[in-house]
Amino acid sequence: MTDRVVRAKAPAKINVFLGVGSLRSDGYHDLSTGFLAVSLFEHVEVRAADDFSVTLDGSIDTSSVPLGESNLAIRAARAVAEACGATGGARIRIEKHVPTAGGMGGGSADAAATLVACNELWNAGLSRDELLALAADLGADVPFALTGGVAMGTGRGDQLSPALHRGKMHWVLVPADGELSTPVVFHELDKHRWSQQGELERNVTQPIVSVGAMQALRLGDVRMLAETMHNDLQAPALRLMPRLVGTLELGERMGALAGIVSGSGPTCAFLCEDEESAVQLVQDFCDQSIRAVHVTGPVAGAKITGAKVRS
Ligand code: C5P
Repeated sequence: MTDRVVRAKAPAKINVFLGVGSLRSDGYHDLSTGFLAVSLFEHVEVRAADDFSVTLDGSIDTSSVPLGESNLAIRAARAVAEACGATGGARIRIEKHVPTAGGMGGGSADAAATLVACNELWNAGLSRDELLALAADLGADVPFALTGGVAMGTGRGDQLSPALHRGKMHWVLVPADGELSTPVVFHELDKHRWSQQGELERNVTQPIVSVGAMQALRLGDVRMLAETMHNDLQAPALRLMPRLVGTLELGERMGALAGIVSGSGPTCAFLCEDEESAVQLVQDFCDQSIRAVHVTGPVAGAKITGAKVRS
């Protein structure tokens, strides 16, 4: 019997700005966000099987990732099977490097890589638009993990417009010791806003767009980006995990142009002037016994990295 194996990878993301609007009736918030795909990848391997299953390894703690039907990669594989009428299942192995519940879209990257891998495994022939539609059903950040690069996200964050960008930017990521649940961080933001707003204002907050941050990406101007980065979820994330304030201050004191909580956190992302200062910042964090990772962006979205037939 032959056993076909397909490998794919998909990147993590940083939200260089994230404006959050009112809570909608579907439980989501309208967003306006600038996505940047960075060079930290989830690697996925799929092979045909009778049923759907997932196993995890890699460089991070994966103990909180569900292995059952709620796993995003399993849901992605099932979505492709349903769309193309495949009758069997898929055995999925994920090599994880993006911190879980860290605000960097690790689960979304798993799903995006699984979508492209299963499309290839079953010769499903789904177009990019068809994959994007499946991605949007899986989660708000999954479409961007498919497209990668730089994009402006609106709606739930899943309506993407590719954005112009120039050059490569250097970032240092500091994963936190702990996780933050995305819905809890959004709820903390609502609670705080509602305590300050009247009943009438509750449903009308529009997400703010950082035109300056998009322009900085277009120009490849790191200093301008450092001045214009903004995340509405940062304040609630810091209230829920106050020790992140110290991490942000430390990174900026040690030479980062600016630090920001990534998405709903708790990973902190530091924008650096150039490669040399990013390497130095990683060393400085390391000297303080804090794990830090140097990444660059933008990078491409989910793609096949290999396919072979084993007999
Ligand atoms: O789509 P995803 O599963 O990643 O979203 C997780 C949760 O984050 C949602 O159930 C919702 O509570 C919150 N969320 C939100 N508005 C968004 C995206 C996510 O409120 N635009």
